[in-house]
Amino acid sequence: MVSTAIQSAETILVTGGCGFIGANLVPMLEEAGYSVRVLDNLAKGDSSLLAGCRAEIVVGDIRDCAAVAQALEGVDAVIHLAAFGSVVESVAAPAENFDVNARGTFVVLDECRKRGIARFVFASTGGALIGNADPPVNEDSRPRPISPYGSSKLCGEAYCSSFAHSYNMHVTALRFANVVGPCSWHKKGAVTAFAKAIMSQDPLRIFGDGSATRDFLYVEDLCKGIGLALRAALPGFNPLHLASGREVSIGELARLMARIAGDDNYPIEYAPKRAGEVDRNFARFDRASALLGFEPQYSLEEGLTRTWEWFELERSKRGSAGV
Ligand SMILES: NC(=O)c1ccc[n+]([C@@H]2O[C@H](COP(=O)([O-])OP(=O)(O)OC[C@H]3O[C@@H](n4cnc5c(N)ncnc54)[C@H](O)[C@@H]3O)[C@@H](O)[C@H]2O)c1
Repeated sequence: MVSTAIQSAETILVTGGCGFIGANLVPMLEEAGYSVRVLDNLAKGDSSLLAGCRAEIVVGDIRDCAAVAQALEGVDAVIHLAAFGSVVESVAAPAENFDVNARGTFVVLDECRKRGIARFVFASTGGALIGNADPPVNEDSRPRPISPYGSSKLCGEAYCSSFAHSYNMHVTALRFANVVGPCSWHKKGAVTAFAKAIMSQDPLRIFGDGSATRDFLYVEDLCKGIGLALRAALPGFNPLHLASGREVSIGELARLMARIAGDDNYPIEYAPKRAGEVDRNFARFDRASALLGFEPQYSLEEGLTRTWEWFELERSKRGSAGV
């Protein structure tokens, strides 16, 4: 696991730390010398993903003020990952998505305000928040979300901004690209779906004609960026894209996954495009580079290879019934 070369005795609360990104981030923070506490209601995450970590795991909901207050005891800074994270599920359940992502973010910010905890890193999103703009997008692109998930993250950013300005907090909203990597078995994105399909010998299913594009970032690069934002604690409110800067079509992604899994001619099938999903997206990360020193190290091929290797290992642990 990569170290950000930070040595610190600080205590960091990671909400949603038992999820995909948390499971990669928490060990990295610990390696960098932080004490970590996790607040997670285990709706999607799994505490076994943090086996081997020293982190204290508090099982609770970010919408529960008392649970958040307890989790914030003795904390120096917060990395707020907990969310209802799926575009497609947000279209099916917009009220729940709003409640977790918008109100939940407000509750965590407000409990920080009450305790004078000023440093806050918010897990935002690039594509879903901006919507259908001409890529590459950056921090000057005008957000026009086309899914409830995108709206909820924009709402979260709005509270991050107002809390930074009204209460002198240092809030960085990191707009993640599409993240790939280990510990993503439970996720609903294309890479997980493709990996599971290959393991079940089912065709790769693409929603739409495969021309939609995304920006894929390897989780280790992302977590390094989160660590840099935590350390920088930029004053005021700073939204920053963390991305690879490379535009990749879903068709290209499917072919690449098939090649990595050892079958260039793996069958692909097409299904209707789903509501809420943007057509093209990739982002520039110049501002994160200038302000944080963020530079992704992994190519898409390297990131997908490591991800596929993790899926294969995981399948051997779970057995074929687990796919
Ligand atoms: N994975 C990506 O590609 C991606 C891209 C852009 C943004 N993000 C954002 O990054 C963050 C982490 O994403 P992830 O991929 O690790 O998702 P994940 O679903 O794996 O992890 C989210 C975690 O939050 C927990 N959680 C959900 N609702 C909660 C609640 N009400 N109270 C407490 N805990 C709760 C879940 O149990 C889970 O462990 C999210 O905010 C997501 O929106 C992720």
